[in-house]
Amino acid sequence: MTAQPAQTATTAPTAQTATTAPTATTARTARRLTLGALVHGSGGGHIAGWRHPDARPEGQLDFPFHADLARTLERGRFDALFVADADAVRGHPLDSLSRTARAGRFEPLTLLAALALVTEHIGLAATATTTYHHPFHIARKFASLDHISSGRAGWNVTASVAPPEAAGSARDSHLEHELRYRRADEFVRVVKALWDSFDDDAPVRDKATGRYYDPAGLRTPHHEGEHFTVRGPLNISRPPQGHPVVFQAGSSQTGREFAARHGEVLFTTQYELGAAQEFYADIKARAAGHGRDPAHVLVWPGLTPLVAATESDARRRLSELQDLIHDDVARRIVQEGIGDLDLSEHPLDGPLPEIAEGNRGNRGNSRRELLLKLAHDDGSTIRRLAGRIAASTTVAGTPEQIADHIETWFRERAADGFNIAFPYLPGPAEDFVDHVVPLLQRRGLLRTDYEGTSLRENLGLPRPALGARHLQESGR
Ligand SMILES: Cc1cc2nc3c(=O)[nH]c(=O)nc-3n(C[C@H](O)[C@H](O)[C@H](O)COP(=O)(O)O)c2cc1C
Repeated sequence: MTAQPAQTATTAPTAQTATTAPTATTARTARRLTLGALVHGSGGGHIAGWRHPDARPEGQLDFPFHADLARTLERGRFDALFVADADAVRGHPLDSLSRTARAGRFEPLTLLAALALVTEHIGLAATATTTYHHPFHIARKFASLDHISSGRAGWNVTASVAPPEAAGSARDSHLEHELRYRRADEFVRVVKALWDSFDDDAPVRDKATGRYYDPAGLRTPHHEGEHFTVRGPLNISRPPQGHPVVFQAGSSQTGREFAARHGEVLFTTQYELGAAQEFYADIKARAAGHGRDPAHVLVWPGLTPLVAATESDARRRLSELQDLIHDDVARRIVQEGIGDLDLSEHPLDGPLPEIAEGNRGNRGNSRRELLLKLAHDDGSTIRRLAGRIAASTTVAGTPEQIADHIETWFRERAADGFNIAFPYLPGPAEDFVDHVVPLLQRRGLLRTDYEGTSLRENLGLPRPALGARHLQESGR
């Protein structure tokens, strides 16, 4: 696949979208575009975005700033907002850390619980790693968030990409990739069983008989497996959604299998239509192979929209952002994207050095291979590669051009929706909601109001049936 540099919407196939323009009816009855937003105080869509003159990096640890953003997204009828996370500061070691906005973030579940109180409809999703947590704690926290938000919780299941997370959990080394996913699989199965600890109608709270819950509705999951021994029940009744919505972002072969088995909303980083279509088809086929309805596995590529009045304005705005990437950061993001290599002695305007196979680090494989291919195929310099990574999913253009891009990817089955990461905040989020969302609504792609009360209902996902009454496993 050939990754594109940050796209200006001049590349958006306007003519193609014009011929495939939908009628409102077919758009609504067949498939409906769904939208999520990555919420990071500084935007999250561009590493240097926090330095933009209109950015408000102080908002990163400011709750009212997040509350305003959540309400803006709700005004734009976003299905969900999403808080990414790692149990470490990504961007270690310290050479570039002081130059990014990565070291100031809220703990996601605390933030989402607070946001639940100032919003009514938007889904609230966060990452929690299966590599450095325990299933009981995660099941309990997301069940709690689902109750607090009346059915709007989502869990992004990650097996952890960042090696520094190991140190944060007092481990000497990061678990190996395959092992991480094996552990993740067991973890998710245990969490789902714990969420099913009680039948939906088990809590009767009958003052007359003195029964808080009906004992016939207790399921007492008990699990003994390769990684965990867990005795239920959970100390909270079944979440309003049955299970909070499971988000996932696996992209390696193992990761995709895992995503297709468990994920309901799948994040993916895609740079061009053909490769995104391949990923989409592959995931849907794998999901069907696991006996799942592919329509219940939503694929959300990342997108960083930079809305401008004209095309030339869009190009200018994008290059302004790229110019804000400090040299230390440029080196570090290439280094981080590819693996454990030291670029400190290499000039930024020179080529990426060859990397020995054995020295490629214990990270996710797919993105690294993509970046290596990119660097070596077109002889890119380290600085250009950094610019491409920083703006890899950016589409800069007029509202029509950005809507065209979204519509094309949706119609051409490269996406069921998008995970929008704004280049900085709050301006670009307001621009998107005020100028792009109305176009998507007018084209019949996006609903004009929330239809359901839970995140599941809004996404068109079914409520999971209760699992087996007793999960009694010996997983080895
Ligand atoms: C939009 C998006 C968000 C992600 N969020 C996180 C995150 O919050 N924490 C994390 O450790 N990994 C995160 N990841 C990484 C994925 O979980 C996954 O490890 C990565 O895509 C590589 O795939 P692989 O594990 O199959 O190699 C994210 C990936 C994407 C595309």
